Amino acid sequence: MAVTIKSAREIELMRESCRLLAQVHKELEYAIKPGMSTLDIDIMGDTLIRKMGCIPNFKNYNGYPASICTSVNDEVVHGIPNKKRILQEGDIISLDAGLIYKGYHSDAARTHAVGQISAEAQKLIEVTRQSFFEGIKMAKAGNHLHDISNAIDAYVSQFGYGIVRELVGHGIGTALHEDPQVPNFAQKRKGIKLQAGMTLAIEPMINMGRADVEWLDDDWTVVTEDGSLSAHYENTILITDGEPEILTLY
Ligand code: MF3
Ligand code: CO
Repeated sequence: MAVTIKSAREIELMRESCRLLAQVHKELEYAIKPGMSTLDIDIMGDTLIRKMGCIPNFKNYNGYPASICTSVNDEVVHGIPNKKRILQEGDIISLDAGLIYKGYHSDAARTHAVGQISAEAQKLIEVTRQSFFEGIKMAKAGNHLHDISNAIDAYVSQFGYGIVRELVGHGIGTALHEDPQVPNFAQKRKGIKLQAGMTLAIEPMINMGRADVEWLDDDWTVVTEDGSLSAHYENTILITDGEPEILTLY
C-alpha cells in the first residue's frame, strides 16, 4: 500500500478521531487502580468509544478479541483483557487503544503505574515517553523516516534499555496500518522523505532488559524473553511544513 497524503478535509477527520481517542485514554488513566481487572478496563474503553459514536478498531482486527490491549509488566503489547488478571499495587500497565471516527482511524498507547511503583519502573516509563518526543523532533517535512528512528534509538540506548524490533510504528488513515513502517531502532536506509499531510503512529516499545520478545500461546500477547518490564508510548501525529502536530495528546 502506498503512503497516503491526507487532504485538508481528511486532516480534520483525523484530528477529531484522535481528539476523541485522547479523551478515552484520559478516562482510562483516571480509572486505573489496584484490584480492577484488565477486562474492566476493556469494557470501560469499549463503552466510551461506542458512546462517542465511534468504532473500536482493534476489536476483531486479525481476530484480536478486545477493544483495548492491556499489557502488564513483562507484557510488551497486545495483552488480552481477562477478568482474572487483577492489577496489583506496583504493576505497570500499557494500554493501547484506537477508534474509527467517520472512517478515520486513531491509535495511541500509554503505560501507567498501578499505585506506587519502583523508581526503576518509573524511569522506564518516562524514558519510553521521552523517546517518542525525541523521535518527533525529527518529524518534519523534508527529513527522512530514518531520522525519527535514529533519534529514538540514540536516546533510548543511553539508558541501556532494549528496543523492541519485531513491532514498529506505521502510517494511519482510512486503515489502522498504512505504509510506511516506522521502526524505533537505527536504520541505515533513509526510508521515505517525510511530507506534509502524512499521518503516522509512532510507538516506541522499550524493555528494561534485553530487546528480545516472544509470543504467548494465545498468539497475541508479546512478552519480554528475559521477563523484564516493558513500556509503550504511542501517538498519532501529523507531518506539517513546520512542527508536527501530536493529534492524540489530551
Ligand atoms: N497499536 C497497535 C498497532 O498499532 C494495536 C493494534 S493490534 C490489535 O498495531 F490487534 F490489537 F488491534
Ligand atoms: Co499502532
